[in-house]
Amino acid sequence: MNLIMKMLAVPATVLALWATSAQATTSDDIAKRLEPVGKVCVQGEECKGMDVVASAGGGGAKTPDEVIAKHCNACHGTGLLGAPKIGDSAAWKDRADHQGGLSGLLAKAITGLNAMPPKGTCSDCSDDELKGAIEKMSGLK
Ligand code: HEC
Repeated sequence: MNLIMKMLAVPATVLALWATSAQATTSDDIAKRLEPVGKVCVQGEECKGMDVVASAGGGGAKTPDEVIAKHCNACHGTGLLGAPKIGDSAAWKDRADHQGGLSGLLAKAITGLNAMPPKGTCSDCSDDELKGAIEKMSGLK
């Protein structure tokens, strides 16, 4: 192969790879969306009683209720692993006081804390979406 042919061939290969992987991502995403939400739960725990909210596909901000039902309720609904319970405002306030308010709680929710997984397992949640969920669960503003 002469040099010109090589120069032409490389971008074509890159483009082909890119096209294949872009497609793979899309179908992975679709497969993920088709998975029953109940599959996402704590390893070693039964997954019954989880509220399931179908989020409308196609982007848009997730509402606090959607985030909580899909991600936070698994632990915060029952206080699993010592998680502060939804609506137990005294427990949440105590934590907020220790972390310097709501923004401190948000920071911990993002990084994770002991048994609390980073972003509470909502890896594609924005900071605002997490904040909305924390406000709703704690009653704090
Ligand atoms: C796998 C269980 C689990 C899930 C899912 C989970 N949490 Fe937690 N969370 C915990 C536990 C356990 C704690 C208490 C950690 C500790 O103090 O050791 C906690 C604590 C917190 C705290 C208080 C942190 C602090 O500084 O005291 C916030 C805020 C929080 N979770 C937010 C969320 C949000 C928002 C979601 C959903 C997006 C979520 N959590 C999902 C288990 C979970």
